[in-house]
Amino acid sequence: MKHIDVIDLLKDSSLVNTTVTVCGWVRTSRDSKNMAFIELNDGTSLKHLQIVIDKNVIQDSSNYLKLGSSLKVTGTLVPSLVQQGGVEINASSIEVLGACPTEYPLQKKRHTLEFMRTIPHLRVRANTFNAVFRVRSKMATAIHEYFQKNHFVYVHTPILTSSDCEGAGEMFTATTIGYSKDYKSEEEYYQNDFFGRRAGLSVSGQLEGEMAAMGLGKIYTFGPSFRAENSNTPRHVAEFWHVEPEVAFAELDDIIEIAEDMIKYIIKYVMENCPDELDFFEKHFEKGLKEKLANVVSSDFKVLDYTEAIELLKKADVEFEYPVEWGADLQTEHERYITEKLFNKPVFVTNYPKDIKSFYMKQNPDGKTVAATDLLVPGVGEIIGCSEREADLDKLLAAMKSKNMTLDEYSDYLDLRRFGSVPHSGFGLGFERIIMYVTGISNIRDVILFPRTVGNIR
Ligand code: 4AD
Ligand code: MG
Repeated sequence: MKHIDVIDLLKDSSLVNTTVTVCGWVRTSRDSKNMAFIELNDGTSLKHLQIVIDKNVIQDSSNYLKLGSSLKVTGTLVPSLVQQGGVEINASSIEVLGACPTEYPLQKKRHTLEFMRTIPHLRVRANTFNAVFRVRSKMATAIHEYFQKNHFVYVHTPILTSSDCEGAGEMFTATTIGYSKDYKSEEEYYQNDFFGRRAGLSVSGQLEGEMAAMGLGKIYTFGPSFRAENSNTPRHVAEFWHVEPEVAFAELDDIIEIAEDMIKYIIKYVMENCPDELDFFEKHFEKGLKEKLANVVSSDFKVLDYTEAIELLKKADVEFEYPVEWGADLQTEHERYITEKLFNKPVFVTNYPKDIKSFYMKQNPDGKTVAATDLLVPGVGEIIGCSEREADLDKLLAAMKSKNMTLDEYSDYLDLRRFGSVPHSGFGLGFERIIMYVTGISNIRDVILFPRTVGNIR
């Protein structure tokens, strides 16, 4: 169907006074005695295009005014009479591609985000989601651009896997047969299953990413990870998109530098490429958003030792629900206090107690902590989990044994420490979490097309 994207009409002034054809959905319409007006949107731009209908030219105009119907419009592109620098189309012919009856749920101008979650198949037609998914797309582009410019190789790690990287028992099982009492043991059940052993959906591509980095030097993955966490929070989904770089010859300080540089690159990219969307989010979701983003780009992130963080939390004049004790993990309330109240900027909390972190993290000389860091940001909390990896075979084996892991399942991973082991580090960025931070949208369900959460899949 030959037509022009609305975004091109809005940007290309050479098209003024020519005949053009556009397609789109009716977002709003107005009727009067001799004239009618339609705001048409085709998804290429947050801004709508006004269609002006002269009733002497177009008969039966009421057919074209129904919200949600899809139209093909031909006419002359002219400068807008009301909006300076804008354009509109004086229609010469209109064709209804798909009519839309009044039970179309998006009749009101603004619906709540909760309501929109009940119609995920339709909500992309509303401004908020139009803006969110365009920004999401640009952010994905920025991530690829950042890593490609810096010589990282994009690798695709498997989704079906037999090793649970984070070891927290949050892996979905992938199976073709149901468990039955006829199997004498769990082992026998898995032996009869598709892979002959227990398999599941990957919680992280890190372990395979490390293998790739041991030949390619610098790699990144960008794909879905799955967590069977029973946490019904605004920050958790069962299927999220995960960006995981892995860097050979990098220690914790080096990877922190890369993480900060990458975040700034992504934000700068959105500021340059999505100004209309940021204006929209500033107006409807977070006052001060644009200033916040500009500050993030222009100032250094805070680096704070976990032990110091605990001291600051103990001194805080706040009643926390969860106790603050050296050795305990930071809860959301603690993370928010640190990043929102104390520093009001992104904070890397470093050197966590080894007992609360994963087996693969490099053990510090103090014997108590690991060379790991989480990046916390105001409003969202943790967006990155990061660490230097334990490159010493004996130390790694000891850590795995102390966590009661089955060593056989990790023999490939352990080989990396046998054959030319090098210091190396990496991190995982939750893609939806950084979208929340950049847009000011406070629920993760609203920044992914079809959110999967406990008890919710469609
Ligand atoms: O902190 P996590 O669990 O770290 C890892 O998976 C490491 N293997 C990463 C690495 O070093 N390569 O997860 C990394 C990030 C979190 O900081 C968070 O942003 C996001 O992934 N994340 C989730 N996002 C949405 N929903 C969930 N259920 C998430 N779980 C983790
Ligand atoms: Mg984490």
